Amino acid sequence: MKDKRLDTGQVSRRDFLKYGGLAAAGGAVTLGAGTLVGCAEEAVAASVEVETLYTCPIDGKRFASYDAMREHFEQNHPQDAIPEVMPLTVNGAVLQVQVEPQWTLQEALQHALGLTGAKTMCDRGGCGSCTVLIDGVPALSCTMLAIECEGRAIETIEGIAAEEKWQPLFDAFANHDGMQCGYCSPGQIVMAKYVIDKYGSPTDEQIVNEMAGNICRCGTYQRHPLAIQEAVRVMGGGSQ
Ligand code: FES
Ligand code: FES
Repeated sequence: MKDKRLDTGQVSRRDFLKYGGLAAAGGAVTLGAGTLVGCAEEAVAASVEVETLYTCPIDGKRFASYDAMREHFEQNHPQDAIPEVMPLTVNGAVLQVQVEPQWTLQEALQHALGLTGAKTMCDRGGCGSCTVLIDGVPALSCTMLAIECEGRAIETIEGIAAEEKWQPLFDAFANHDGMQCGYCSPGQIVMAKYVIDKYGSPTDEQIVNEMAGNICRCGTYQRHPLAIQEAVRVMGGGSQ
């Protein structure tokens, strides 16, 4: 049932973390379906909406579709070449993305797709806040160039949050105060999902070892095994 407090603005801190914080971590945004290319509809998680943004490198204007940018070029910069786009498979959808060659995957997710869940904290592979899954394996999106990811299956916190199956994991993190400021939480939960996928019913030691690379400046570490164990119980033994 829908929580009325979310409509009235009376949202507790816990609810904010449970609903708003994770939604913000998930970076739910809207988008033109025209940018989805060649994807089976059922492969796209129902509630993941992505806004693919295209930016004119000449005057900085932003467009919601490649066609709109093409029209802009024809009218305003007819002598210039329109920027290329590349396909990236994100949360099951093949998206045509305008990527700068020097962009990391984290930058492409944030700037071209509006997916703000994978966060830059250290920007040098040391903290795990930018963790995504690539072909099912955790990867630090601040250390990979986006252009290296063509043809790879990229899964972000937004995609995980859109799967009903994983709702108990989000609930458990909220129930156990597994997040404080929440900045590291998307990376922690992506890793938690990976740990459950990998072990089914992980031990505390496996959880701690696998998540050792995810830094939390708020010190929520002790909460993570509690949350993950609860999620596994609710999910009936994890994914295996
Ligand atoms: S921001 Fe990528 S590892 Fe810290
Ligand atoms: S909850 Fe604040 S950095 Fe982890």
